[in-house]
Amino acid sequence: MREHALTMSLAEAMVNVTELAAIATHSQIGRGHEKRADQAAVDAMRTALNAVEMRGRIVIGEGERDEAPMLYIGEEVGLGQGPEIDIALDPLEGTSLTAKAMPNALAVLAISERGGLLNAPDVYMDKIAIGPGYPEGLVDLQATPSENVTALAKAKGVPVTEISVCVLDRQRHAGIIEDLRRIGARIALITDGDVAGVINTTDAATGIDLYLGQGGAPEGVLAAAALKCVGGQMQGRLYFRNDDERGRALKVGITDLERIYTLNELASGDTIFCATGVTTGDLLGGVRIEQGQARTETLVMSSRHGVSRRIQTRRRGY
Ligand code: FBP
Repeated sequence: MREHALTMSLAEAMVNVTELAAIATHSQIGRGHEKRADQAAVDAMRTALNAVEMRGRIVIGEGERDEAPMLYIGEEVGLGQGPEIDIALDPLEGTSLTAKAMPNALAVLAISERGGLLNAPDVYMDKIAIGPGYPEGLVDLQATPSENVTALAKAKGVPVTEISVCVLDRQRHAGIIEDLRRIGARIALITDGDVAGVINTTDAATGIDLYLGQGGAPEGVLAAAALKCVGGQMQGRLYFRNDDERGRALKVGITDLERIYTLNELASGDTIFCATGVTTGDLLGGVRIEQGQARTETLVMSSRHGVSRRIQTRRRGY
């Protein structure tokens, strides 16, 4: 039988990759430079990926080849031997959060065997997500926010006023927010970072029951890869603002522009998901430099092994 490509040692190698990206970004926290922060993370992540024994291919990255000199879509990374791996990455999820020293910035990636992750273009995506333990199809992108909250409250056995919905604080979400306020649900507004927003629905300790709204499609696939490991439900529908964005979808082979993707279509194969905190947030502690050592916290999950681990690392000579 063919050995599965997503081994625990590959997961460990990926932990190293997001840790190094997060550590490299630490010097940029609170400096007001989004681009410099992102570049630090990209450089470190690329160097670390190129040291991994795999034939890696970026399927979600920093952009298309002509706009991203590094970690562009289609770029091959790794030592050029070993398993064939598809990689979705966001070296710095939360460039503004980092530049402003705000919580929840992450270095994040997900891997699968070839073809296991939706090759989403860099456009927006309408997203809805809940944690594990609910009947399949309980929430639906085509239902209104209040209908979804009402269904969730019923399934959870609480009044709608006890349901907490995470929403990106954007003008485009005014309608969602109005509908949620009307029925009295709690709204946790976040300024950025919807990968963490979606993942937080899977952890009762965060108090978040539902994620709703429009964010980046790449971030949608990354969040789906995480939910694939820990359970939960998610739907995503690409949202196009113009023909250029529609063209991006066609270029990666997406022809049904209205399609609603389920969790298993966003991440169809087994996945390993890895995120290291850059700044401290609900999901992960941020990088700390103490006595010449870098301390990091990383969440690593494997859908195939059904495990989710938090790894605290101390690194000398970082
Ligand atoms: P950064 O570009 O600062 O890393 O922001 C990331 C993010 O907040 C994502 O988490 C989210 O999916 C997306 O941006 C939302 O996009 P927009 O800021 O255009 O609403």
